[in-house]
Amino acid sequence: MKKRHLGKSGLEVSAVGLGCMSMSPDYYGAADEAESIRTLHYALDIGVNFWDTANVYGGGHNEKLLSNVLRERRNEVVLATKFGFVRTAEGLIGINAKPDYLKEECDRSLQRLGVDHIDLYYMHRLDTSVPIEETVGAMAELVQAGKVRALGLSEVSAATLRRAYAVHPIAAVQSEYSLWSRDIEVEVIPTCRELGVGLVPYSPLGRGFLTGQIKSPDDFAPDDFRKGLPRFQGENFQLNLDLVRELESLAQERGVKASQLALAWVLAQGEDMVPIPGTTKRANLKDNADAADLNLSADELARINAIAEKTAGMRYGEFAMKFTNL
Ligand code: ATR
Repeated sequence: MKKRHLGKSGLEVSAVGLGCMSMSPDYYGAADEAESIRTLHYALDIGVNFWDTANVYGGGHNEKLLSNVLRERRNEVVLATKFGFVRTAEGLIGINAKPDYLKEECDRSLQRLGVDHIDLYYMHRLDTSVPIEETVGAMAELVQAGKVRALGLSEVSAATLRRAYAVHPIAAVQSEYSLWSRDIEVEVIPTCRELGVGLVPYSPLGRGFLTGQIKSPDDFAPDDFRKGLPRFQGENFQLNLDLVRELESLAQERGVKASQLALAWVLAQGEDMVPIPGTTKRANLKDNADAADLNLSADELARINAIAEKTAGMRYGEFAMKFTNL
């Protein structure tokens, strides 16, 4: 497995990481827990060592699931988790990045994960009620205390990144980025490059859509959160399906899968990119890992860009978009 560096943090990780969110039954429907654990072991067996979780995934379930493997193989993993999203009694999601809260939350994550330190600790979303300097100041205290090795921010604006970086070096920004979600190209990516901050694209497979395995809005369980996303609804769904068919025929020409083209496209955007495709299955993990060895020509990249222009719909609904690029 090829390796890449996360910014200037000194953390070296597999060029393709592993998003663990969908191993909890919260977002993309139920997953087979035994297969998820086998997938985690298999990831390490083939060198996919950069794991991504968050306190909010499954309300702590996700971090606890990972602890089953970390117990035996902590040293093999570059472990990233996050704080920031909060579930209220009503089940709504709020944001809390206040200093005291995040320090307590870090302790709770350490406990659930069963580890003595986190390699990369992210603020999941900006809390607009707290100056970013205060949030990052508290995160820096966690580094000084040895609980956290490096700091990250998710879905922040370039301006917030600059303010944060002035307080403490930031190893990586994690934001949605893929051939069909490219808003960070305008300001965030150039600012990361100027500062030497790594990029961790999440949903590099368009939440599964770009793999070609999603064929109808009926493919989802009633509680699957993707049903509510603009790209997965009505006319947009059909238009995006046409886009994926084009991606699949390009993939066929190369003898690879559409999912692998999507990942290779992200990896080709720069050595600073470490996508974290999410999967709950060993077979898919293997396909994703193999994409690290797929080099695309300038012509192929241009053809993918042209296909991507046909994307229909926003990446999130209006409410969730309000928490991005802050
Ligand atoms: P996220 O970052 O939100 O997890 P993503 O990485 O863009 O989103 O896509 C994840 C989705 O793609 C999951 O539903 C995953 O399903 P499995 O758990 O069944 O694998 C699916 N997926 C991931 N890799 C895949 C692959 N190689 N082929 C087909 N589907 C894949």
